[in-house]
Amino acid sequence: MRIILLGPPGCGKGTQGDLVEKRFGYPKVSTGDILRRAVADRTPLGIRAETLMNKGFLVNDEIVIGLVGERISRPDCREGYVLDGFPRNIFQAQGLEEMDPGRREIVIEIKVDEAALINRLESRRVCSGCGAVYNLKFYRPAQDGVCEACGGVFSRREDDRAEVIAERLRVYKEQTEKLVDYYLKKGVYHGVGGEGTVEDVFGRIAALLNDGAGKAGENRARP
Ligand code: AP5
Repeated sequence: MRIILLGPPGCGKGTQGDLVEKRFGYPKVSTGDILRRAVADRTPLGIRAETLMNKGFLVNDEIVIGLVGERISRPDCREGYVLDGFPRNIFQAQGLEEMDPGRREIVIEIKVDEAALINRLESRRVCSGCGAVYNLKFYRPAQDGVCEACGGVFSRREDDRAEVIAERLRVYKEQTEKLVDYYLKKGVYHGVGGEGTVEDVFGRIAALLNDGAGKAGENRARP
């Protein structure tokens, strides 16, 4: 099974991907996380990607397809995986199909309106120790500014500045939103409302997955 979480910046792909991994056992493969790790490690790829990411632009397709190909070829992905942030355009979607052909697939778009996205992104904070994601408005830790998992301190993603958020939303509309039609035509698209609590949203996603993505194509209307 290949589960593709689709949706604009801040809709909750990473948050929901973690929950899907925990409940259903498919590892989450996040291109954003892989790239941020490369940036933090100061690898040659990370150094090149950093400027693009900090401006809200996409990283080169071949690079990202290569990273995903390497990750999903590992043994833990044999039964399936959850993709968060990939594919981002039709070229990447086709690259994925070529790398891992014939795998059963479900695409879940998490729909959130733009004002709520901006609100979530501006108040997101990330633990600089373990990468856990919090939100100053919606998901605060018990002790302000301190990660509940590892005690690390919070930082703000460089690309969560207002002007970069605007650019990321523009890039999403221009390039990634086209995937909705692409996957609708493939008969694997499902849309869920991304408003409400994290648990509310996960309930909708889990219902789809429990219902058997085997029925892919039945719940195709965009909410
Ligand atoms: P990436 O990291 O993938 O960023 P994104 O797609 O913009 O998504 P985000 O990580 O910002 O948001 P999310 O949807 O995961 O939301 P989250 O769960 O964190 O990519 C970053 C960059 O890397 C790109 O701009 C690009 O440069 C590069 N890149 C990555 N993939 C690429 C690719 N395939 N090709 C080329 N370049 C690529 O939640 C957001 C906040 O909201 C959190 O604070 C969370 O706690 C909160 N929250 C979550 N759910 C709820 C809820 N239900 N209610 C209230 N708050 C909530």
